[in-house]
Amino acid sequence: MDADETRVRQMLHNLLSNSCKFTENGTVTLKVFLDNRDDIDWVNFAIIDTGIGIPEDSIKKLFQEFSQVDNSSTRKFGGTGLGLAISRRFCLMMGGDIRVTSVVGEGSTFTIYLPVKVVAKTSLRRRKTDR
Ligand SMILES: Nc1ncnc2c1ncn2[C@@H]1O[C@H](COP(=O)(O)OP(=O)(O)OP(=O)(O)O)[C@@H](O)[C@H]1O
Ligand SMILES: [Mg+2]
Repeated sequence: MDADETRVRQMLHNLLSNSCKFTENGTVTLKVFLDNRDDIDWVNFAIIDTGIGIPEDSIKKLFQEFSQVDNSSTRKFGGTGLGLAISRRFCLMMGGDIRVTSVVGEGSTFTIYLPVKVVAKTSLRRRKTDR
């Protein structure tokens, strides 16, 4: 892929650290795959864990700065509540985003998707309206 290597590395580090932090006696899997949507080739990084999971009403708030699901888990696991907000910002800057699915007590999947070739936002918009 053609992207900002440092930012991609930081996002993967943030999401993999979360999965390791919120998974005790389970597994953390990283799957990387390509697909094509809206005439754009995407690289997908799925970070899949079998950890504590996230309640549905908290998923919407996850990407807000300093947002953490509950105080007891923050006391237990630590953190500042910035990793996801920063990672999502990087992703949007590169024309991608992060998708989340989760079931409490079963685990979570965070999928980062980025264009195979990250381009400036203006040319991405132009390419979409050209169709
Ligand atoms: N894989 C996960 N499983 C369960 N909960 C998660 C997972 N990833 C994130 N969360 C929840 O989302 C919150 C926000 O995550 P985020 O990475 O933004 O902050 P943090 O990990 O608490 O702190 P920081 O990343 O700044 O050290 C976490 O505190 C946790 O409640
Ligand atoms: Mg974090």
